[in-house]
Amino acid sequence: MRRSIACLLAVTLLTACRRDNMEELSPCVASATPLQLDIPSYFPPMVIPAGNPLTVEGVALGRRLYYDTLLSRNGPLQGLACASCHDQARSFSVSTSGTSVLPHVNLAWSTHFLWNGKVSGALEDIMRFEVEEFFQVDVSVLRAHPEYPELFRKALGTCEIVPGDVAKALAQWFRRMASGRSKFDRYMMNQEVLTLSEQLGAMVFLTEAGDCFHCHAIPLMTDNAFHNIGLDSAFSGFDVGRFAVTGAPMDMGAFKTPTLRNIALTAPYMHDGRFQTLEEVIDFYSGGVRHSPSLDPIMTKPGTGITLGLTPQQKSDLIAFLHTLTDDEFVTDPELGSPF
Ligand code: HEC
Ligand code: HEC
Repeated sequence: MRRSIACLLAVTLLTACRRDNMEELSPCVASATPLQLDIPSYFPPMVIPAGNPLTVEGVALGRRLYYDTLLSRNGPLQGLACASCHDQARSFSVSTSGTSVLPHVNLAWSTHFLWNGKVSGALEDIMRFEVEEFFQVDVSVLRAHPEYPELFRKALGTCEIVPGDVAKALAQWFRRMASGRSKFDRYMMNQEVLTLSEQLGAMVFLTEAGDCFHCHAIPLMTDNAFHNIGLDSAFSGFDVGRFAVTGAPMDMGAFKTPTLRNIALTAPYMHDGRFQTLEEVIDFYSGGVRHSPSLDPIMTKPGTGITLGLTPQQKSDLIAFLHTLTDDEFVTDPELGSPF
């Protein structure tokens, strides 16, 4: 009885009471400091699951795990850390061939993860996937480590580290990877004005001229949905996109709308990295869209078929606007860099 009351109390204090047979609860009580993030007021509220409140210690632990190659020990990705493919200087993405590395920016507001949305839910859910299936983290390595058990205990009240704890800490770190200090944000907060070209680009972006805002919605620059934007007219392999998950014909060739925040830093572009520059991307939207039965209706313009037909001036203005979405603070902040 005493123990269950203690446990109840402890639960309120962020504790994970994992083992019923534990004699002493005190060693497994988290002693973590709540963390409040500084998010622009015009962002949607960040939903944080009750079971994993944001704390200074939790974020620090998640950060350390993210940069630690120990996570891949004994797994299929030996020698790699998350940060090996998700580099801060490139908005936590990296330039590769093959499937484009999705950046880690503002994923706290995402509900579907990976290009085809194979994993949905909260950050804790995608982190479980990354930890258990992608990295196949061997938690015995962490349990035997001189520092990790103590760090987990303080941050999460963990008695014995399990993969779910690793996922929780990483999820907290991902909430910390929020970007809202770009020139565009300063403009939104009336702290800075846009140049004429950037303003004209914003007009193209936000009106029927470019129609970008329907999917790359302000302020996150994504609608968290899936669309076939007409990169191809026939699909096979990974290119079937969301269809591989839902089997619905309308999802053929549809991919998660990536955020455009820090887009100038994350070339190459599209799920397969087919475009090297933003100029190539804009040329595609302007005149390269291809028909197929699942083409998103937004891509079809009344009267003009599938051609936006942007002028060279509109294209360069649009690109100038896209550059205002770069958050220099986010990609250089030492607090987001490696703790090692
Ligand atoms: C070998 C390179 C590599 C490593 C290492 C790596 N990732 Fe990734 N990551 C990728 C690629 C490629 C994608 C896109 C894959 C896809 O969508 O199918 C991705 C996508 C993601 C996404 C989805 C983002 C979104 O917008 O939906 C998350 C979350 C993620 N990675 C987290 C992690 C975590 C956590 C780790 C460390 C445990 C990690 N990654 C390590 C290459 C890597
Ligand atoms: C119908 C929804 C939709 C519209 C409209 C749209 N996009 Fe996209 N955008 C997407 C999707 C989905 C992707 C990813 C497609 C893929 O990789 O297969 C994407 C990808 C991109 C990328 C590459 C992102 C990356 O990380 O690789 C850029 C840049 C981009 N869009 C800019 C724009 C601009 C500029 C406009 C307006 C001219 C626009 N988009 C209109 C849905 C849309």
